[in-house]
Amino acid sequence: MSTQASNLNVRRRQLADRVATLKPSGIRKFFDIVATMKDVISLGIGEPDFTTPDPILQAGIRSLQSGQTHYTSNSGTLELRQALSRHIHRLYGASYDPQSEVVITVGVSEALYLALTALLNPGEEVIIPTPCFVAYQAEVILAGGVPVEIPSRMENNFQPQPADIEAAVTPRTRAILIGYPNNPTGAVVSRQILGEILEVAEKYDLMVISDEIYDQLVYGTPHVCFPAIPSARERTLLLGGFSKDYAMTGWRIGYAAGPAEWMNGLLRIHQYTIMCAPTTAQDAALEALLHGQQYVDEMVAEYDRRRNLIVGGLNDLGLSTFEPHGAFYAFPNITSSGMDEETFAQKLLEEERVAVVPGSAFGLGGEGFVRCSYATAYEKIEEALQRMDRFMRRHG
Ligand SMILES: Cc1ncc(COP(=O)(O)O)c(C=O)c1O
Repeated sequence: MSTQASNLNVRRRQLADRVATLKPSGIRKFFDIVATMKDVISLGIGEPDFTTPDPILQAGIRSLQSGQTHYTSNSGTLELRQALSRHIHRLYGASYDPQSEVVITVGVSEALYLALTALLNPGEEVIIPTPCFVAYQAEVILAGGVPVEIPSRMENNFQPQPADIEAAVTPRTRAILIGYPNNPTGAVVSRQILGEILEVAEKYDLMVISDEIYDQLVYGTPHVCFPAIPSARERTLLLGGFSKDYAMTGWRIGYAAGPAEWMNGLLRIHQYTIMCAPTTAQDAALEALLHGQQYVDEMVAEYDRRRNLIVGGLNDLGLSTFEPHGAFYAFPNITSSGMDEETFAQKLLEEERVAVVPGSAFGLGGEGFVRCSYATAYEKIEEALQRMDRFMRRHG
């Protein structure tokens, strides 16, 4: 084969730069190791341990058995969009037209992809308060943009600092991407701070993408829906879903809501890439919205019990832990162990078979912390704390 031909072959096999440079998720690497071990208590999982509540399951089964095995409208069934509109309005007072301002997606994962792809021109920047959900930076890069991380700190209760956000604005900034209640810190942001973030967005004419997937999982504090703040709606894309609130991760169902002109853009991408969210999952999600509140309340009460156990337990071990008011994660500072977060997570797994996720997997500001999910049975958390006690006696 001539040199020219072999070069062509090589080039054909090369990935696009934006894909080739993507780092694999720090979480995945860790769970590949966990999967090979026995007797591990995992505090690493980012999904509810509950099975989807039975009436929601039954609605999915009924949907299949009655022959709903076809595509739906690209935006999702009108019944689901209408119910979602009523739901968002009832909980938070934000109004969306179900005909033109809501698209049902394959989880918030797809909604994020749509939002970023629809908004970003190549090289445009998105400011992201971190630590944050592991996909944010990667999704910005995949959409051709540049993520700009703004670390939040435990001394500020992991609240994003509007002044830091403003200092990061450049002529290329297009949007601010926020996710509260937060994965991995459990922080819930105050109305005051959200209002100040809105002021920055208004001053520089930026979009806000607000991922509110944990909206109903709050403990003793209200969730503030960003687009419900007066004047925020017109520059916000609201992303939400069913995975966490209703324990429906495997159904793959979520939504994006926002002003019609943008939703039209999101819909076009969705139309050509996904067509529509799974019909069965849409029918189950409708049941969740219509009759699921009791189950959400029960799960929240159980998470709260576990939250008190784990936060108290970690603090007692000398691992200083901020009190999380949302989601289902505790985010202890592990510097008293004398280890960095990667070493801590690795040794804890090897020596005591407890899996936690190094905080640095979630971006800047996560160094010196690990994420412990309490979407795990109460008794398992008790056992994990005993194992961590042994570990800290050896290393603390
Ligand atoms: C903050 C946040 N956003 C989005 C997602 C993805 O959710 P979905 O299952 O709806 O795609 C997750 C999952 O962990 C998350 O933590």
